[in-house]
Amino acid sequence: MNNTRNFVIIAHIDSGKSTLADRLLELTGTVEARNMRPQYLDRLELERERGITIKMAPVRMAYKLTTNDKRQTTTSHQSLVVSHKSSDSEYILNLIDTPGHSDFAYEVSRALAAVEGAILLVDGTKGIQAQTLSNLRAARKAGLKIVGAVNKIDLLQTQTYADSRLNKVVRATAELLGVGEEKIFKVSAKTGEGVRELLDAVIERVPAPRTDADFSPTSADNFPRESASSPRKSAMPARALIFDSLYDDHKGILAFTRVFGGEFKAGEETMLLAAGAKVKIKEVGYFSPEFKPAQKISAGSIGYIATGLKEPALIKTGDTIAKSDKRAKPLPGYKEPAPVVFISFYPDGATKFEDLKKGLERLRLTDAALSFEPDANEALGRGLKVGFLGQLHFEITASRLEREFGLGFLTSFPSIAYRVLDGGRDFVVKQPQDFPEKPERVWQPMIKLEILAPSGYLNQVVNLKNIFELEVKEIKNMGENLLIMARMPLAELIRDFDDQLKSVSAGYASFSYELDGEAEADVLKLEILIVGDVLPALTRIVPKKDLEREARATVLRLKKLLPKQQFSQAIQAKAQGRIIARETIPAMRKDVTGYLYGGDRSRKMKLWKKQQRGKEKLKSMAKVDITPEIFREILKK
Ligand code: GTP
Repeated sequence: MNNTRNFVIIAHIDSGKSTLADRLLELTGTVEARNMRPQYLDRLELERERGITIKMAPVRMAYKLTTNDKRQTTTSHQSLVVSHKSSDSEYILNLIDTPGHSDFAYEVSRALAAVEGAILLVDGTKGIQAQTLSNLRAARKAGLKIVGAVNKIDLLQTQTYADSRLNKVVRATAELLGVGEEKIFKVSAKTGEGVRELLDAVIERVPAPRTDADFSPTSADNFPRESASSPRKSAMPARALIFDSLYDDHKGILAFTRVFGGEFKAGEETMLLAAGAKVKIKEVGYFSPEFKPAQKISAGSIGYIATGLKEPALIKTGDTIAKSDKRAKPLPGYKEPAPVVFISFYPDGATKFEDLKKGLERLRLTDAALSFEPDANEALGRGLKVGFLGQLHFEITASRLEREFGLGFLTSFPSIAYRVLDGGRDFVVKQPQDFPEKPERVWQPMIKLEILAPSGYLNQVVNLKNIFELEVKEIKNMGENLLIMARMPLAELIRDFDDQLKSVSAGYASFSYELDGEAEADVLKLEILIVGDVLPALTRIVPKKDLEREARATVLRLKKLLPKQQFSQAIQAKAQGRIIARETIPAMRKDVTGYLYGGDRSRKMKLWKKQQRGKEKLKSMAKVDITPEIFREILKK
């Protein structure tokens, strides 16, 4: 165990985490050169297509720290080698690659609980970004040892201002970590320059795995590094924390685990402590990064346990799997993620409600942040209301349901939860349709934003307050950037805040956010009627002051976006029982009398009447499909 190191790479999106992981896989010979491909650990088709990491990916690597390496390390990092003993040169390294986008922060938090160290990677061309800060904070909270590195130095070397630019970012990173500049590694994940030195530093600085012997049984805190009382190792029953899972048709659900005490082998009887379910282990193994069966997995290591279970609801991320031993207590789990955006899914086409539910259940195994509950809609039937951590989380989930499970579905407008006082009752409304017409008081969730932007864009960023309800609280210097701290209603975030921020800052500004209590809101329910019927999927809650403008803009946009039908379509916006805006999409014209020769008026009248009757009938059966693109268009500010 002294020769095992568990670590993650954390960074802002696109800083090169997955590329750095590629170099580590090569350097350690984990993946043969001929099988190597860029961003090797991004396994999902969607990840490769979009070039982003969505899922954390664990991998076990074997690494030899040779004498030769030591000499190299000595020259660039004097302090490093002193404690290396030649006999301690073979290491097992468990790396977890994590996603960078703030919607997947929950993935990152779970990876952090399974390791002891983190490489904090900063993109040298961009400097410190918002997600760098929030991930660093999370890593510190988890008590990890942090090794700082500045990436993409190959790009900086070809530029004239290269050196000064690189030095600036190195200085800022060192300041952020509170260490000397010489402690920050300069690497290129693309060319591999500096990567070996970085890996050696991980071995040197990150402590060997903590195990049950390091736990204080009374602490409610997540994985304290040191404990007041250290029970003897032999007294501890075998237990492991489940940090992720995956459905396998043959082996049942695979639980991805970090073992904290004892060891696990195939054939053993174990318990899922929170679920209270018995599990007879089918197989255990490591991530190479493919699943590689092994004799056993033991304290300090990261590996998988094939449970044979087919029921997704039984396996919960954060649960503890333990040998059936009465003394086994659950490990500190994770805080339940708090979904912030709610969207209802309804089966469409050949997809049945049960298929949709099963798809979501299986997806939840690999995405613990996903939560859902049954929901019904008059027009669309039985569905599921799904909670997401953000807009990207929704988009990715919808794509995965379509692609990995072949499901068809319709979705409702994204909405957030409001707390409402109505008729003396205080309750939470998660669906706009359930929002009362004239509530007495309403409270909405707020967020705390951290925006990092180069100082040249300060005005543009601050001026976003003209579009969004953004309240700037404080502006600080942060290396070469400014850190703008602000508060905003969560509802604003699901509009196109992200795009607007990117566009006013030429892509240089980045942000991260967290929930920050609630504030009283002056909002109303806006309903859209098409051909006289309320379309529940389009109902949403808007600030009172924007009501008229939003109503007009929405009916106009719908007029442009909805296809023409055989009949005319009235589009109306309604609030507080009144129609406040209206547009009409004219019917498609078809000349039904064109083939008649001459001017027989009565025959023409007959045909027109027939056409009219047909149109009325169509109108009564009309179903208007609102695609996700239409939703997105309507949401734009
Ligand atoms: P997310 O997982 O989406 O957060 O991204 P990531 O941090 O894993 O970044 P990824 O490895 O996907 O790299 C992002 C882009 O930067 C890719 O186009 C890489 O080829 C490029 N890149 C990464 N490292 C380097 C580097 O050292 N030099 C250069 N020139 N490009 C790099």
